[in-house]
Amino acid sequence: MLARKMNPRFIYLMLFLPSMIVSSQDSAYPPLYGYIQDSWSIIDSELIPQRREVYGNGKIYDITHRITSGTPSGLSEDGIGDEYLKLYESMKNGSDYNFSVIKLPAHSGTHVDAPGHMFQNYFEAGFDIDSLDLDVLNGPALLVDVPRDKNITAEVMKSLNIPKGVKRVLFRTLNTDRRLMWQKRFDTSYVGFMKDGAQWLKDNTDIKLVGIDYLSVAAYDDLIPSHLVFLESREIILVEGLKLEDIQAGIYNVHCLPLRLLGAEGSPIRCILIK
Ligand SMILES: *[C@@H]1O[C@H](CO)[C@@H](O)[C@H](O)[C@H]1NC(C)=O
Ligand SMILES: *[C@@H]1O[C@H](CO)[C@@H](O)[C@H](O)[C@H]1NC(C)=O
Ligand SMILES: *[C@@H]1O[C@H](CO)[C@@H](O)[C@H](O)[C@H]1NC(C)=O
Repeated sequence: MLARKMNPRFIYLMLFLPSMIVSSQDSAYPPLYGYIQDSWSIIDSELIPQRREVYGNGKIYDITHRITSGTPSGLSEDGIGDEYLKLYESMKNGSDYNFSVIKLPAHSGTHVDAPGHMFQNYFEAGFDIDSLDLDVLNGPALLVDVPRDKNITAEVMKSLNIPKGVKRVLFRTLNTDRRLMWQKRFDTSYVGFMKDGAQWLKDNTDIKLVGIDYLSVAAYDDLIPSHLVFLESREIILVEGLKLEDIQAGIYNVHCLPLRLLGAEGSPIRCILIK
């Protein structure tokens, strides 16, 4: 047999190289930034890390955006920049290890808001990320598509016919089609909830987890009013900046876990959907 005559390393390359090339050019992401890419080498193929959006043959979807220097935040036109990850000690400089320090805007990329985000009294009383209910952040969830030609108004909410009893909904909007989360620049023309849409959700549904595919659940024109409607109850949790492409609408189990940041009104969050 041919295979037996071949160098095992060569066979390894033949078997795995095509999938590696595909995974390193994943259509969901532009090439990685900076040194990570430079250190990749086809020759040393065992050292190419796998980066996936889907695990377990389509059972688990990662709906979190990867954090890079190009991750958008409301703070800058250029993404969060290189500062998010800095080597504090490095082997290159004679240390026994590499040791980085993380510095992130709390509301960049895929993240969650706590009630203290927009209510000073809640902030002072300690309604922070550490106080968010993990039972709301984890459990059965509905992924729905909203009409692409409008922001989320009361009329749109009504038309979605989300049944009573549904507690967690991820709203996929035009933001996903426009790939806004892949742009460094904060784009104020994103789709989100208008105040009447937020009020309708609060008054007429059992939804406690609101997920959306850009940095804010609230449309820019109603940025503060919509947030206030949601956050005032302290029951509704807002997860923003979700990555919802290439997933069928329907029912999943969502699992979202924020960092346990005491005193923070926002936090990066890892969210996955399980079929
Ligand atoms: C390594 O040392 C150089 C020279 O002291 C310094 O400029 C650089 O910031 C250090 N880098 C790290 C990652 O420690
Ligand atoms: C981190 O550690 C590796 C050794 O594992 C070293 O080669 C590399 O230079 C270090 N990175 C930096 C940026 O210093
Ligand atoms: C949604 O509202 C924003 C302003 O908040 C606006 O720029 C955008 O065009 C609206 N989108 C749609 C689809 O109507």
